[in-house]
Amino acid sequence: MFRVSKSFFPLPSARMGTAALLLAPVAIALLAACTPDNAQSTFGTAGPIAEDQANLFKFIFWIAAVVFVLVEGAVIYAAIRYRRRSDSDKLPYQTHGNTKLEITWTIVPAIILIGVAIPTLAQIWGQQSGVPDDLGEVLNVEAIGHQWWFEFRYPDHEVITANELHIPVGRPISFKIVSQDVVHSFWVPKIAGKVDMVPLNDNFMWMIGSEVGTFYGQCAEFCGIAHAHMRFRVIVQTEEDFQAWLDGMHTAPDAPAPGSPEAAGQQLFAANCSTCHTNNSTSPGSYAQEINTQQARWNGWISDTENSLIVSAPNLTNFGDHITLGAGLKDLNQDSLVAWITDPSSIKIGTRMQKHAAIYRTPDGELRPDGKPGLSESEISDIATYLLSLKPGSGSGDDTADSPDSGSVDGAAVFATNCTGCHSTGDDTKIGPGLAGVGERAASRVQGLSADEYIEQSIREPGASIVPGFNNLMPPWGHLGDDKIDALVTYLKTLK
Ligand code: CUA
Repeated sequence: MFRVSKSFFPLPSARMGTAALLLAPVAIALLAACTPDNAQSTFGTAGPIAEDQANLFKFIFWIAAVVFVLVEGAVIYAAIRYRRRSDSDKLPYQTHGNTKLEITWTIVPAIILIGVAIPTLAQIWGQQSGVPDDLGEVLNVEAIGHQWWFEFRYPDHEVITANELHIPVGRPISFKIVSQDVVHSFWVPKIAGKVDMVPLNDNFMWMIGSEVGTFYGQCAEFCGIAHAHMRFRVIVQTEEDFQAWLDGMHTAPDAPAPGSPEAAGQQLFAANCSTCHTNNSTSPGSYAQEINTQQARWNGWISDTENSLIVSAPNLTNFGDHITLGAGLKDLNQDSLVAWITDPSSIKIGTRMQKHAAIYRTPDGELRPDGKPGLSESEISDIATYLLSLKPGSGSGDDTADSPDSGSVDGAAVFATNCTGCHSTGDDTKIGPGLAGVGERAASRVQGLSADEYIEQSIREPGASIVPGFNNLMPPWGHLGDDKIDALVTYLKTLK
């Protein structure tokens, strides 16, 4: 019988047994991730790209398995067959070089590698050369990586959302893949392979979801403290459901009933959250507006990464229709949302919200010692209730509760829903200047412009004349439309 020298395995056999017992569950747990049912397993595929990749993996795996068994088998056979049997064994006959053998073991691996390379390269080129023409109407999506969440834009439909990607089943999706900050990687294990999201370098990929359902996505490139918590969902829908979702994204929620928790939450959201989170990208023009706003948020954050009160953040339009919270970390419901607002880091370590949003700071600008927001429990609950109520309403797509009747637009309400994230009505500076007395100041600000004209210009083209001491972070706000801007100008002039 074959016996191994003890000196090769210094562990006593009892300890080896214990080690094996301890390692077995770990090995089982790791292998369980390979079962096709696992949410991030690449073996249970739900799209042709992932299926091609899985088949290629299996092809290479079996070639490698055969090579492994042959080579290791030969090594083990030689070790046993020609082992030293006794102290009297003589040294075997020594040889050097064997041309036939060496040519054989050079050519055979080369043939194997060529056999692996041909289907691999064919697949890489096939997937990089764009969507084949015969696969039907392509849906274009821009996927943008942020620390630590995903933004999805549908440029052909002017829809913008975050962390939950909706796509129609069976239709090719062409992705432009970018990052706003560091290198991330876009990966939907069951539907397609991964492609890096690189700042200042657009990448492309395409995929098809072949089954209706909800699939996991994951950032697959280390990108900072919350990398492992940077997830998303892909919701593959029937064409009808997808069209309904698109229509819903252009339909504003119904206005909250006066006096309801939703109404209170709406005011609190506008005052405390709307600097970084847009939640009303439903009206015409709001898509371009949100793209400008996200850029302005980024500019604000990058100009002072320690103390900025503004940071790129997920768009929350129709957030009540979402199924997850915190970039795919939790199921979305009232309890999880309250827990998130109360202490975001307890759910997702490193989240920028807690570090930068003014609500987590004292009036002096210091971070609050308990890490909690400066809101009561009922106020947090109202914000959560309001956000969960954000679903497509019965209306026409107008994005506030204001009457479309031009004579009756309430400037104060327009201000509350659009401006209070950055501007107070007093003298104090939030992100932008306090607006008390703005009407008087406006009259003498720019020669040739009346107070009305100056204020209107400041709304439509904020960069045109900047108040000394402020960088312009404000995006153009012309999408509000003439009626609301007129009402806003009238209201702002009343601030004393
Ligand atoms: Cu983003 Cu890892």
